[in-house]
Amino acid sequence: MSYLFRDTDRAARRLQVLAEVYKPSSEAFLHAAVHARPQLALDLGCGPGYTTYLLAETTESAYTIGLDSSAHFIELAAQNATTQISFLQHNVTQTPFPTGTADLLFCRMLLTHLQDPQATIERWLTQLKPGGLLLIEEVDWIHTDKPIFRDYLAIVAAMLKQQHNQLYIGEQLDAYQPAASGVQRLLSRVYQLPVTSAHAATMFYLNVAAWKSHPFIQQHYSSDQIERMEDELGSLISSTASNEINWGMRQLAYQKT
Ligand SMILES: C[S@@+](CC[C@H](N)C(=O)[O-])C[C@H]1O[C@@H](n2cnc3c(N)ncnc32)[C@H](O)[C@@H]1O
Repeated sequence: MSYLFRDTDRAARRLQVLAEVYKPSSEAFLHAAVHARPQLALDLGCGPGYTTYLLAETTESAYTIGLDSSAHFIELAAQNATTQISFLQHNVTQTPFPTGTADLLFCRMLLTHLQDPQATIERWLTQLKPGGLLLIEEVDWIHTDKPIFRDYLAIVAAMLKQQHNQLYIGEQLDAYQPAASGVQRLLSRVYQLPVTSAHAATMFYLNVAAWKSHPFIQQHYSSDQIERMEDELGSLISSTASNEINWGMRQLAYQKT
């Protein structure tokens, strides 16, 4: 199943906004979970590399490699590569990784897009060195009373569900205990992240273009409805409102003993 939100330049721009929005959450997570400088850290589903640079900076890993299945995102990410930070095109549901085993594996907003997240976690655990950490950050909930945001989220949740994915995958991950022996869960918490309406509207607006021609959307929603939604989200990009939408980010850390 291909990545629903695509890998166009517009999708990359959305991930740039997303990087700014989720930085406080991911930084707090990495500070809470990583207490030793990793030799090799991997960013799984790195997109255009924002999470990879954040991972390298926050953990001070000696080497950091971003892996993504999109050739276009890898090309964008690699524009700022260094000898310490690099990128490889790879489908991360496939192991072994081309990098060898790592001290730290990190993923943000990736498992929500994969077909069998639990089997994938088991495979990832085989790619850790002894003492290594697997860090997962995914959406647990999004709370909002604003009708346009609720409507947008309901459509995205339905579209993901029809391809057996879950928008709010955090709770399912929290309930899951890896079958692999010698693995300890060190952390499972929800980080509460208030997001301005302008940021939420920008991320949502940029995403509508990625999915509005999807057959599921065309079958279940009128083009008028989607156009009105796009227009309203577009007009909210300059909103000055805050306190209208909050994210709960599930943060899980596992260690291979
Ligand atoms: C929502 S984006 C998140 C990007 C980045 N982690 C961030 O938080 O900004 C999901 C990314 O996962 C990538 N992806 C989806 N399925 C993948 C797979 N099987 N292997 C590698 N990358 C994948 C997509 O190409 C996309 O870049």
